[in-house]
Amino acid sequence: SDAAFVIAIDGPAAAGKGTLARRLADHYGFAFLDTGSLYRAVGLQMIIEGSDLDDAQKATETAARLDLGLIGDPRLRAEETGGAASRVAAVPGVRAALLDFQRQFAGHPPGDTAGAVLDGRDVGTVICPDAPVKLFVTASAEERARRRTLEMEGRGEAADYAAILEDVKARDARDMGRKDAPLKPAEDALLLDTTNLAIDAVFLRAKSFIDGKLSSRD
Ligand code: CDP
Ligand code: CDP
Repeated sequence: SDAAFVIAIDGPAAAGKGTLARRLADHYGFAFLDTGSLYRAVGLQMIIEGSDLDDAQKATETAARLDLGLIGDPRLRAEETGGAASRVAAVPGVRAALLDFQRQFAGHPPGDTAGAVLDGRDVGTVICPDAPVKLFVTASAEERARRRTLEMEGRGEAADYAAILEDVKARDARDMGRKDAPLKPAEDALLLDTTNLAIDAVFLRAKSFIDGKLSSRD
C-alpha cells in the first residue's frame, strides 16, 4: 500500500523517546514530529500571556490559535514549560485542537517521505491507533530525573536532582491519571525499558522490530 508508514513512540518524560525517534527518522528517511512540543507551545503561550494555567476555556482558545513559531523558542525546553504543558494537556479541548495537525502529519508527512515517526504520550493509543509500529519507551523515575539533571547541567543551567525527581513524578501522575488520552502502552506496543540500556542498544532493538514489520508488509 502507499499509506505512510507510521512509527508511534510513547512513554513518560525523559525516557529517551525523542532521542530514539530522531535516530529512527534519520535511519529510515522518515519525517519526525515531537508532539510534546505542541503541548509545550500551548503551555509557554499561556505563561507568556500571563494566563491562569487552570483556566480550561483559556487553554482551549490558546491551543486553537497556537503560534507554531514558539516551537523554536529556547524557553520551550524549560521544566516550567513541561509542567505547564502537562496541565493544559489534561484539557480535552486542547487535545481536540491539536489532533488534526498530528493526524495530517502522520497521514501526509512533509517532504513526501514514505513514513513518519511521532513521539508523545498518546500517539499509539489515540492519534494513530492503526500504526504498524508502536513502541513504549520507559525508564525508572530516578534514571529519568538523572538524565534531565545532566541535560540541564550540559546547558549550563543550575539543576536540583531532588526537585527534578519530584517534577518527573508529578508529571507522570498527571499524564497517567487524566481521563482523556492517559499515558499507557497500546496493547500491541513493544515495551522498551531503557533504565539500563544505552541509546545504541535501544535503537538496535527498535530497528529489528521495525524491519520485521516492514518486511511483512504487502
Ligand atoms: O524525549 P524524552 O523526553 O523521552 O527523552 P530524550 O530527550 O530522548 O532523552 C532524555 C535524555 O536521556 C537525553 O539527554 C538522552 O541523551 C538521555 N538518554 C540516555 O541517557 N539513555 C537512553 N537510552 C536514552 C536517552
Ligand atoms: O520531553 P518530555 O518527555 O519531558 O515531555 P514532552 O514530550 O515535551 O511533553 C510535555 C507534556 O505534554 C507531557 O508531560 C504531557 O502532559 C503532554 N503531552 C501529551 O499530553 N500528549 C502528547 N502526545 C505529548 C505530550
